Amino acid sequence: MGSTIIVGGFFGDEGKGKIVAHVAFADKPTIIARGGIGPNAGHTIEVRGQKFGVRMIPSGFVYANARLLIGAGVLVDPRVLLSEIELVDEAKRVGVDHRCAIIEQKHITLDKEDPHLSRTIGSTGTGCGPAAADRARRTTIQASEVQELAPFLTDAAAEINQALNAEENVILEGSQGFGISLYYGFFPYVTSKDTTASQIAADVGVGPTRIDETIVVFKTFPTRVGEGPFETQMSEEEAKKLQIEEFGTVTGRPRRIGWWDPKMAAYSAMINGATQVAITGLDKLDPNVRGVHEYDDLSTKVKTFLRQAEEEVGVPFTLLSTGPELAEIIDLREEKLYHA
Ligand code: GTP
Ligand code: IMP
Ligand code: MG
Repeated sequence: MGSTIIVGGFFGDEGKGKIVAHVAFADKPTIIARGGIGPNAGHTIEVRGQKFGVRMIPSGFVYANARLLIGAGVLVDPRVLLSEIELVDEAKRVGVDHRCAIIEQKHITLDKEDPHLSRTIGSTGTGCGPAAADRARRTTIQASEVQELAPFLTDAAAEINQALNAEENVILEGSQGFGISLYYGFFPYVTSKDTTASQIAADVGVGPTRIDETIVVFKTFPTRVGEGPFETQMSEEEAKKLQIEEFGTVTGRPRRIGWWDPKMAAYSAMINGATQVAITGLDKLDPNVRGVHEYDDLSTKVKTFLRQAEEEVGVPFTLLSTGPELAEIIDLREEKLYHA
């Protein structure tokens, strides 16, 4: 397998955390590295009934045998990171690139008080936008200047490239999603950085020629938090009737829910250079398939959806998630079945 990038194909919250965790247990990487923006992300992983939400450390942490790295491109809030490290008791495995830019209290205050960011854009209030702006102005401090981070400092890019030289498996995880990319999303209702696979590779210091697989994660019913266009959005009543309401991991805000968007999925897969697609929430399409492990045991409704979606996107759907639990998944990567 070598290197696998995992990114969000819609507006974030597609369930990347769960997909990363599954791929980690299946492929046994030596390193799981995080790219993406910063602690605005919230990944949820459910393992044996226990629910974990992480914002800074890679969501693959539930797989115990990989080193957990944060790439130089990521904005680090030391308080969030240190509390997560303590919470999951993972001090030995975590490494932070010494070049990561640091989010300070002033960035958080500005993010929450600036009416443009907090109201017009509907930011997460985690300081990411203002810190990214200061990074571009070259006024941020780096991880190497924060005493509490000293035990974790490393050259993440060098570690990852050395692992690839040694033909080890590495997972590079993104955060957020295609629709809120600073470049390709619905500007200005976007986050403060690109969110596509190329950006994730750059964030962790791996060149484009060294990427083996790019898995784009979609959900059957896309969601969006914060402001901005959402072409396939449904009414709150419709979402309630279908029992598919969701709430944000970081902000607790209700997520806006929409119908499957084939046009956006195809465009997103194209710009991400997807080699495979993971789809979550098949159980939301048909509750009868909750927890199903075999493709053949899926209902006709779900199989029909998958066949059509695969045709629309033009990329094999290899990871089919049938519930929030880690074990609730069908993994077709070996067969690379193309059901279309
Ligand atoms: P960001 O990096 O913040 O974009 O997050 P994310 O992509 O890791 O997703 P997040 O955890 O914020 O939201 C996904 C939600 O869907 C979580 O509550 C998961 O537990 C849940 N989930 C994941 N896969 C499935 C699935 O197949 N079915 C159902 N019903 N829920 C799922
Ligand atoms: P910011 O990244 O906090 O500046 O927020 C900018 C926009 O991106 C807002 O609409 C947020 O709701 C959205 N956003 C940021 N991070 C996430 C995420 O992890 N999931 C979903 N939406 C996000
Ligand atoms: Mg999330």
